[in-house]
Amino acid sequence: MRTLRPLLSSLVTLCVIASNLSAQSASSGHPLMDAERERRIDELLARMTVAEKVGQLNQYSNTFDLTGPPPDDGEAGRRYERIREGRVGSMLNVTGAEATRSAQQLAVEGSRLGIPLLFGLDVIHGYRTMFPIPLAETASWDLEAIRASARVAAREAAAAGIQWTFAPMVDIGRDARWGRVMEGAGEDPYLGSLVAAARVRGFQGDDLADLSSIAATAKHFAGYGFAEAGREYNTVDVGTATLWNTILPPFQAAVGAGVASVMNGFNVLDGIPVTASAYLQRDVLKGDWGFPGFVVSDWQSILEMTTHGVAEDPAAAARLALSAGSDMDMESDAYRAHLERLIESGAVDEALLDDAVRRVLRVKFALGLFDDPYRYSDPEREADLLLSPEHLALARDVARKSIVLLKNQDRLLPLPPEGRSIAVIGALAADKDAPLGSWRAQAIPNSAVSLLEGVEAAVGAGTTVSYAEGYKLGIGQRSFIQDLALDAEDRSGFAEAVRVAAGADVVVMALGEEAFQSGEARSVADLTLKGQQEALLREVLAVNPNVVVVLMNGRPLAIPWVAEHAPAIVEAWHLGSEAGHAIAEVLFGAHNPSGKLPVSFPRVTGQVPIYYNHFNTGRPVDPGTVFWSHYTDAPNEPLYPFGYGLSYTTFSYSNVRADRSEVSPDGQVTISVDVRNTGDRSGSDVAQLYIRDVVGSRARPVRELKGFERVELDPGEATTVHFTVRAQDLAFYTARGVWDVEPGEFVAFVGGDSTATERTSFHVR
Ligand code: NOJ
Repeated sequence: MRTLRPLLSSLVTLCVIASNLSAQSASSGHPLMDAERERRIDELLARMTVAEKVGQLNQYSNTFDLTGPPPDDGEAGRRYERIREGRVGSMLNVTGAEATRSAQQLAVEGSRLGIPLLFGLDVIHGYRTMFPIPLAETASWDLEAIRASARVAAREAAAAGIQWTFAPMVDIGRDARWGRVMEGAGEDPYLGSLVAAARVRGFQGDDLADLSSIAATAKHFAGYGFAEAGREYNTVDVGTATLWNTILPPFQAAVGAGVASVMNGFNVLDGIPVTASAYLQRDVLKGDWGFPGFVVSDWQSILEMTTHGVAEDPAAAARLALSAGSDMDMESDAYRAHLERLIESGAVDEALLDDAVRRVLRVKFALGLFDDPYRYSDPEREADLLLSPEHLALARDVARKSIVLLKNQDRLLPLPPEGRSIAVIGALAADKDAPLGSWRAQAIPNSAVSLLEGVEAAVGAGTTVSYAEGYKLGIGQRSFIQDLALDAEDRSGFAEAVRVAAGADVVVMALGEEAFQSGEARSVADLTLKGQQEALLREVLAVNPNVVVVLMNGRPLAIPWVAEHAPAIVEAWHLGSEAGHAIAEVLFGAHNPSGKLPVSFPRVTGQVPIYYNHFNTGRPVDPGTVFWSHYTDAPNEPLYPFGYGLSYTTFSYSNVRADRSEVSPDGQVTISVDVRNTGDRSGSDVAQLYIRDVVGSRARPVRELKGFERVELDPGEATTVHFTVRAQDLAFYTARGVWDVEPGEFVAFVGGDSTATERTSFHVR
């Protein structure tokens, strides 16, 4: 095997050169590509030693802010010295204008070539001003709001010295057990692709060199969200149809939007750790898609290839990763420690190293770091921008748009702001930290507006608000890097909560999850409410039937009992800094809710993965025997379907029609629908178009989202929504292994959620 290595590495090099050529032609016009900058990169590369080149591919964390297991190699204390030696290209978790400036100084003034560092951070839903968690933001179905939220996050981060975020996470999430569903855009590749592009545009702006732009990262390439049994870091084993039709589209959309970097992942895919996948990173990403940016590994994912059992030691892991197209090494220290020798021995070709370094330098040049390495670290801008009133106002706007009304029996909501007594119940209701959510960058702990504060601020003088904690949630144990110990038994607060509830006209009760119950490494085997929450709700409902449940959670929860018995349910996720105000706007009707679920909510955990765009199976319906695809102890249907969300008014959908019955493969069809506000309040709804490809060379989903549009209507008002669908939008990864549209019948459904029944059909011929 050893003697084969030089040969293999030359083959890989040839592929790299070929893929570079295709990348350069495919990516001309890409924001990272610029002839003058390429020339400057050539010049710089010519001056660099192998060690300095390797240095550009080495990323260290600030050891005081770990976002993964700490390194145990004794190197930790030498990191700043390594910067001076030119052996570090990027740092993560160094935050703030002062800290980034002084670390930058070490690189620029201390190292031989003075190449600036790139500072990266997980700026996922805000830097200091917290926006709703990404899953919640997606519930707004408002791409402009999502773009604007990423823009603010970028502006704040950039002022604090960060030039690069590890976001957006574009992994499709079909399994609510996986804690990171909170960080993505939900279960649908069409919506996920649009959201991915909107987030990239928000972070990167029109020009990466703009001082309010930071480089974005599409992650985790690829398949990470499909961990078996929803268990974090677990095996991923999907076929090519799922890979191409479901997992890859959001990545391709991010690349199309000009994303500067891509992060690979911890998972294996078809037995190969994605960090070592030349197919994904070289053939697809850098080859077919012409991606000119760089790939960063996930935290120690290079080193973890030894644990996966595909590399005998860290040197082999480094060789595999670089050969496969992982350009930057996050925290494994494997490139720094081994690449130089691998290149000297011929085991890795220097052309691969040059290609990786060029990609990293491209991003540094595009960010303007070579013109002024300190431009991002500006204490004055930092002080002005962080938590500015303008940013908080936008956070509140996005938060209100992200709320989904799940149930409103007998129109309990909205509540009159005057003349009532309101009991606010539940530890989460007074919690100023949970709404900040997981992955909160530099949020100040306990800085969110709580639900209780929001309610108190919204009511008039004639209304009394009382509060009782009721259940416990493990408060005091919260931490990003340790498991939460949840107090499952404590009912000591029940009596007081029941007393307060009994004495009020209406109860607003918060249920759900603490911030760090979802996020990385927060998989659960049980999606029901933790601890004594449901038990308390039962006791509260027994003394006061007027209970509005406000859910705060990072993932879909299995809450069938709550759904049946609570008269009103508001899905408020983890909404960020302004959470309480935004929720109060919905509770008291200042804002008519219009969010729609970007994920299906299961009835029981055993239903997951559950998603609307599933296959039909060969036995989808009850044949009068047990021999059909179902559970014997639960229905197939979710508790709340994808796309679902109520309003304080109602809408009707009718007269779905196509403007033609036949479309050529390069033609288009317009599907129209009449929408009417049939209620007595102004409101907005998201009209959703789903299409079913009736017969394909592969089994096709029962329906797929292909368009949506928000309509705003006054009571009684009607409008017609037109969706233009190109036949090419119906293409998929066919049985022939190509992306193509196949002729045949297509059925279109339009309505307010994924169960829409109004339909029409057309043929592609
Ligand atoms: C591990 C996570 O998987 C990744 O998404 C994140 O960006 C890195 N840690 C850095 O914090």
